[in-house]
Amino acid sequence: MTLRRILTVDNAADLAVLKRISTPVEGGVTDEHRALMDDMLETMYAAPGIGLAAVQVGVDQRIIVMDLGDRDVAPLSVNDDTAEGEAEIAQRNPRYFVNPEITWKSEELFTYEEGCLSVPEIFDAVERPARVKLRYLNYQGQPVEEEASGMYAVCIQHEMDHLEGVLFIDHLSRLKRDRAISKVKKAARAA
Ligand code: NI
Repeated sequence: MTLRRILTVDNAADLAVLKRISTPVEGGVTDEHRALMDDMLETMYAAPGIGLAAVQVGVDQRIIVMDLGDRDVAPLSVNDDTAEGEAEIAQRNPRYFVNPEITWKSEELFTYEEGCLSVPEIFDAVERPARVKLRYLNYQGQPVEEEASGMYAVCIQHEMDHLEGVLFIDHLSRLKRDRAISKVKKAARAA
């Protein structure tokens, strides 16, 4: 397994890749896709984070990995401090998604303080449907249909946004978004 470099918004070339719309995986899940997912998971654990889309390591295919540890179905509050990017995983519970599609969204909304490995050290509140139904292919390439709530619902919607070239800061006001990017740039220059 290889750790991949995570693209970040402070770099113009990286940002251009992060803005791409990822393409569907054709012809099923192969060993090549599984090797990519293994790399992505290790990269995500090392960061550490709880979700990663392939485009964040520069591969614009509709592939996501996630590990919510034991917080999978736990009830959430907006003040929960376990946002992406500062996750500590007590118990590994990896999930793999190829060609995920959301088939239903609840009218009920939920606001959560999100973060992103491509926007390091920035956290802000994003409102999304509280529950979604989705279908995808798993690591073995088998079709799965599920309903997601809690942290799972937040995370899968955040990661699926990446497949459309959308970052969580794109859900914020333009002012907040610009301020987030300049903060990340400033931190990168200081490092
Ligand atoms: Ni993200």
